[in-house]
Amino acid sequence: MADSILEMREVTKRFPGVLALDGVNFQVKPGTVHALMGENGAGKSTLMKCLFGIYQMDRGSIVLNGEERHFNSAADAMHAGVSMIHQELSNVPERSVAQNIWLGREPLNALRLINHRKMLDDTRKLLEDLNFDFDPAARMSSLSISRQQGCEIARAVSYNSSIVVMDEPTSSLTENEVAHLFAIIRDLRARGVAIIYISHKMEEIFQIADDVTVMRDGKVIGTFPVKTLTGDKLISLMVGRDITHRFPPVESSIGERCLEVRNLTAANPRSFRNISFELRKGEILGIGGLVGAQRTELVEAIFGVRPAASGEILVHGKLLKRIRPQDAIEAGIGLVTEDRRSSGIFPLLNITVNTAIASLGKYKTKIGMLDHRKLTSEAVKQNKQLKTKTPSMGTLVQNLSGGNQQKVILSRWLMTMPDILIMDEPTRGIDVGAKYEIYMIMAELVKQGKAIIMVSSEMPELIGMSHRVLVLCAGVLTGTLEKSELTQESIMRYATQFS
Ligand SMILES: Nc1ncnc2c1ncn2[C@@H]1O[C@H](COP(=O)(O)OP(=O)(O)OP(=O)(O)O)[C@@H](O)[C@H]1O
Ligand SMILES: [Mg+2]
Repeated sequence: MADSILEMREVTKRFPGVLALDGVNFQVKPGTVHALMGENGAGKSTLMKCLFGIYQMDRGSIVLNGEERHFNSAADAMHAGVSMIHQELSNVPERSVAQNIWLGREPLNALRLINHRKMLDDTRKLLEDLNFDFDPAARMSSLSISRQQGCEIARAVSYNSSIVVMDEPTSSLTENEVAHLFAIIRDLRARGVAIIYISHKMEEIFQIADDVTVMRDGKVIGTFPVKTLTGDKLISLMVGRDITHRFPPVESSIGERCLEVRNLTAANPRSFRNISFELRKGEILGIGGLVGAQRTELVEAIFGVRPAASGEILVHGKLLKRIRPQDAIEAGIGLVTEDRRSSGIFPLLNITVNTAIASLGKYKTKIGMLDHRKLTSEAVKQNKQLKTKTPSMGTLVQNLSGGNQQKVILSRWLMTMPDILIMDEPTRGIDVGAKYEIYMIMAELVKQGKAIIMVSSEMPELIGMSHRVLVLCAGVLTGTLEKSELTQESIMRYATQFS
């Protein structure tokens, strides 16, 4: 294709035990948004890391603007006009926004020293241009995830990139931030920039993308104009079969009360206050609300990771004297955290250890030794059930694809067999096929009489899986919706109560 800005030809990349990319051909036109879709572990991030010089491909070539190029490092790629905003944010937390943006190419003064004033001025201009309202001198670690990501976008723009890769950029953004990001994307596109956009969120693809390339098992299935696709068609291309139901039936009987939260108020005055609710055996209780509603803070306080100022938690009618994670685990509560990057994953340990780590107490032999065999076989079983894609259980978790890391965390908590499982955004970053597996497991758990609290930003998921939904807005419980009342509109109404 003569009009491509980028052509990747026959790209092959092997990792120990996995053929991650198998002769991939991929072409992108300038001034378009090109979505890259596929199941967890399909090879999307790997393909982009090959383009960006982070991985060296085993075979294949990259043609940029008609010229064959080879990048040995990300810095090479950036200088050639290719930028990437990573699935895992990659900035230096102790440095300022400006320092991060100009890292390695700081403006110098006549004495060849860093010209801090110019650096700050340039950054201010850049941020203004993008409508970001944060301080160029702020420390990176003091900014929210979305602002940190904003800095990465600003850096991409500062290089005048002709190709910008975004790997699941919206996973922790609020609705407004997503709208802002999309405005920036449209603006870049109008300037002729090609954007390669990776996301598991189907609605986003139909909103923003011009073309879609679907990958499966390291191969390209095809490239299609978005206009020619429907959601169902796209799903079947991704998973290789039709998915007729997005949610399994939840057939549990609701039993006695297993958790009661009374007037729980966070220690942090800007967080949630006076939250009271009950959870029953066999129930899936959804918690909805916009990003910033303090849903994560609430479930973390119930689990004891965050301090509460006042309030009571009763498990099976018994008041928890202290609320610390070990007490919560002992009382039969498990928490699947939302953000696998900062909490939860031990990247340098293997899958077995990552899965088993919360269950060590449960697998002791009579003489108090760890029963390694049982522990390992249970860890294997849990990951098999969720179809974690990996060459072996000994693989380091950092080498798994993003979605598969999420599955390992889920396996960990399923293995502790909690009576009450709290799941914070359980399917974030998970592909459509695997989402269904997770829903099936949820349905099975409540059928066995367990109870689930599910925090989710995905309306269809809240509506499709919950018996009841609590809605939070700015730290206040604004509504409780029964199954029959659940619609996108009713949830949104309570979620935006104070705006
Ligand atoms: N550094 C690495 N070492 C070993 N294996 C790796 C490494 N990086 C990726 N892989 C493997 O390559 C395959 C493709 O992974 P990749 O991260 O590209 O998937 P993905 O399509 O981005 O998935 P997701 O949607 O979950 O992010 C996976 O099987 C993964 O385990
Ligand atoms: Mg990925």
